[in-house]
Amino acid sequence: MNIQVRYFTRSGNTEKLAKAIGEAVGVQPESIAVPLSEKADILFLGTSYYAFDADPAVKEFVLVNKEHIGKIICFGTSAMMKSMYKPMKKVADKACVSLEKEDFHCRGEWWRCHPGRPDKNDLAAARAFAKKFV
Ligand SMILES: Cc1cc2nc3c(=O)[nH]c(=O)nc-3n(C[C@H](O)[C@H](O)[C@H](O)COP(=O)(O)O)c2cc1C
Repeated sequence: MNIQVRYFTRSGNTEKLAKAIGEAVGVQPESIAVPLSEKADILFLGTSYYAFDADPAVKEFVLVNKEHIGKIICFGTSAMMKSMYKPMKKVADKACVSLEKEDFHCRGEWWRCHPGRPDKNDLAAARAFAKKFV
């Protein structure tokens, strides 16, 4: 089974989760600047909320790489939201790509909110989440 980990981050929070998930599944995480060069049966895709949506670069990544995506499993962080499923479902449907219903989401530090998040407990939970799928 080919597993890939890609992520988008502005301030490093989602990158922390990507590293934890990559470690759990034995894959080097890469930014979405690195396209998929072969079919990924599972793509762990890290994306967080910016103005109540995923960043446009993440949507573009899914559309451009859709031929190489078996199934997307999302992970991400935010100040207030609980899941990236809704915005990412729209993108996945547009690309005709499968999206796992369960995603991993936790608080991410933003200005004075949630300092230190994701923290070690979040990273442990992200590792445990990823391991369920491999
Ligand atoms: C420009 C901007 C817009 C944001 N909008 C939201 C939002 O709409 N909802 C939310 O819950 N968090 C929002 N946040 C907080 C981020 O989702 C949070 O800090 C997240 O952990 C950032 O992840 P990153 O460090 O990987 O970029 C916003 C942050 C920024 C910088």
